[in-house]
Amino acid sequence: MEYPHIIQLPKFLDNRGNLSFIEENNHIPFKIERTYWIYDVPGGERRGGHAYLNLQEFIVALSGSFDVVLRDGKKEMRFSLNRSYYGLYVPKLMWREIENFSTNSLALILADGKYDETDYIRDIDQFISSKHGG
Ligand code: TYD
Repeated sequence: MEYPHIIQLPKFLDNRGNLSFIEENNHIPFKIERTYWIYDVPGGERRGGHAYLNLQEFIVALSGSFDVVLRDGKKEMRFSLNRSYYGLYVPKLMWREIENFSTNSLALILADGKYDETDYIRDIDQFISSKHGG
């Protein structure tokens, strides 16, 4: 059973500035099929509010900070992301919301599949009953 967890990324500190990177199937446990990013989020807004049937993701706060709130149908987990040298691995079948975006924050999201609306579960009751075999 896959579980959500923070993954530390390589970090090259340099007085010219720092550098981090991500390699598929190395630092993150999947092949990257798609990259998208969320930016210019107005204060107080939330993103997400859905689960994926199959998609796995890796979320990095490239700039600023935000919280990723995950629900597996039983418990809720909150991860605060605020550095660009680590990120959150999110397996499939997790209800996820992103909130508390700081001003000018930038969320980078790597995913192992192309955009597919049929992979979304957007109804929380449907999600919870699917997790309980109902
Ligand atoms: P959505 O997944 O609902 O955003 P979030 O989960 O961050 O709140 O996507 C918002 C819109 O963008 C929706 O109309 C679908 C579109 N979209 C794409 O076309 N491709 C993508 O890779 C993503 C993530 C979204």
